[in-house]
Amino acid sequence: MDRPPNHLTSGTVDLRRWRAADAELCLRLVTESLDHLRPWMPWATSDYDLAVAQDFVQRCEADWAEGTAFNYLILSGGEPAGAAGLHARIDPGGLEIGYWVHPAHTGQGVATAAASALTEAALTLPGVDHVEIHHDQRNLASERVPVKLGYTHVETRPERRFGPAPADSGISKVWRITR
Ligand SMILES: CC(C)(COP(=O)(O)OP(=O)(O)OC[C@H]1O[C@@H](n2cnc3c(N)ncnc32)[C@H](O)[C@@H]1OP(=O)(O)O)[C@@H](O)C(=O)NCCC(=O)NCCS
Repeated sequence: MDRPPNHLTSGTVDLRRWRAADAELCLRLVTESLDHLRPWMPWATSDYDLAVAQDFVQRCEADWAEGTAFNYLILSGGEPAGAAGLHARIDPGGLEIGYWVHPAHTGQGVATAAASALTEAALTLPGVDHVEIHHDQRNLASERVPVKLGYTHVETRPERRFGPAPADSGISKVWRITR
């Protein structure tokens, strides 16, 4: 099975795949970002601890091996700044991008640069001819990312990607780009 590169770059933003040894780094990034993530990410709760982070980074390695998801740490100017990934959870021939950014690094184009690198990597993979970004219709900052990258809005539909989160409407906007 073909997989994207372990490292990706877009301007000053680098992505490197999460490794099982990254649990403490993951915990720090998530803990510092909790208030900012909580409205949109149901997993961002005060229960997030080292065991949860360990489970996440181990799952990243397993998913990568199985080809079901390709999850990366985002670095901005060399500093850990968030997470982004490609997920094989849409129709065949498609991959979906997910992302979040540490609040110290938002508003600087980090999510857009990460999604740009992931889009290019995905469309280079044999058998992948489209990439999607899904976000809750109320998440206007997330919506800017596919808009800035030239994705097309294809659908608005009831969908909860990660279970109910406090700010979620339960209605997602789906954006797509095709090879
Ligand atoms: C959504 C998120 C990933 C954006 O990350 P980022 O690195 O700041 O994104 P970018 O800088 O590339 O672009 C953000 C855009 O949103 C805009 N924006 C920020 N807050 C906004 C708001 N409340 N309403 C409307 N637009 C907003 C910014 O101005 C920027 O647009 P611009 O470049 O046209 O000015 C980040 O805010 C985040 O992690 N949010 C919490 C988790 C989340 O929602 N993840 C996505 C789930 S689908």
